Amino acid sequence: MPFKIVEGDITKLETDAIVNAANNTLLGGGGVDGAIHQAAGPDLLKECINLHGCETGDAKITDAYNLPSKKVIHTVGPIWRGGTNNEPELLKSCYEKSLNLAKENNLESIAFPLISAGIYGYPKDKALEIASETIQDFIKENDMDVYLVIYNHSSFHLNKNLKENLEEYIKENLNKPDYLEAASFQREPNLQAVRKKIEFEEYEIDDELKKKIQNRGESFSEMLLRKIDESGLTDPECYKKANIDRRLFSKIKNNSDYSPSKETVLALALALELSIDETNELLEKAGYSLKSNKLSDIIIRYFIENDIFNIFTINEALFYYDQKLLA
Ligand code: APR
Repeated sequence: MPFKIVEGDITKLETDAIVNAANNTLLGGGGVDGAIHQAAGPDLLKECINLHGCETGDAKITDAYNLPSKKVIHTVGPIWRGGTNNEPELLKSCYEKSLNLAKENNLESIAFPLISAGIYGYPKDKALEIASETIQDFIKENDMDVYLVIYNHSSFHLNKNLKENLEEYIKENLNKPDYLEAASFQREPNLQAVRKKIEFEEYEIDDELKKKIQNRGESFSEMLLRKIDESGLTDPECYKKANIDRRLFSKIKNNSDYSPSKETVLALALALELSIDETNELLEKAGYSLKSNKLSDIIIRYFIENDIFNIFTINEALFYYDQKLLA
């Protein structure tokens, strides 16, 4: 999973690099800065002194000393002053400069804290949006595992509108009779009825239904490959949109006996922007289904029904509700 939101203490992560939300002096401070210096030991400060500070929005790299990671990338986020002092651009630059520095140093994994979202007062939902968008743009073009580390769950804020709409939808649909089963029940008799009519040559059925009958016998991977083909996406476009790494995708594509997790099937269905019905059909072929007594399935149904297929947006919502992330 090239981009993952995790909860924890960044100083404990064994990624190639961890990013420090520093200040312009690079001489340590509170928050994550203090925690990183504390865990790395005094040699980190000695190296930082020789860097002679860092501009806001810029990034510099040092060794990690007693930390489990190999490198520390120090970046200085903007102090929030209402949002009209170039804060979004400077914050975006922190992520871009840090990611490019990791790439220049041939690092394969990097972990970020939510830069500026603590002492520097950046509104957490806005900080998350910039972090998520900038990381997504980078991993579209680069193979690197990127983690966004949330120190305490309470500091994780969803977009206000999204949160209200989701709460409403969950209240209306969680643990309601499984409308999907009813739908598949609906689907079944139609096909039986149609099959009967076919025998008596009495039918005029539309292409959609004809295609459904033809495709009923296909396996999970056959349906997946057909849907990728119909979507016009290349394989890399598909697995990057699904936030799946190349190796896993080729395993799914080349080994028809491989059974992917439900989260991976859903990630692929979202990447292909399948309807609820097609999503459930793809799930059924892999041995799963969307359940109305599962909060994560209700959350995913909300996004599909609202034509929101961005897996990172959906993962933020799943993370917010303490659910397993997709892919
Ligand atoms: N692991 C992961 N995230 C952490 C940790 C940790 N050990 N400690 C704090 N955080 C989170 C905070 O919860 C916040 O969401 O890091 C995010 C950034 O918060 P700060 O560390 O306060 O950084 P920032 O808001 O960018 O302010 C930078 O604070 O520490 C000083 O010297 C630093 O002056 C600079 C300012």
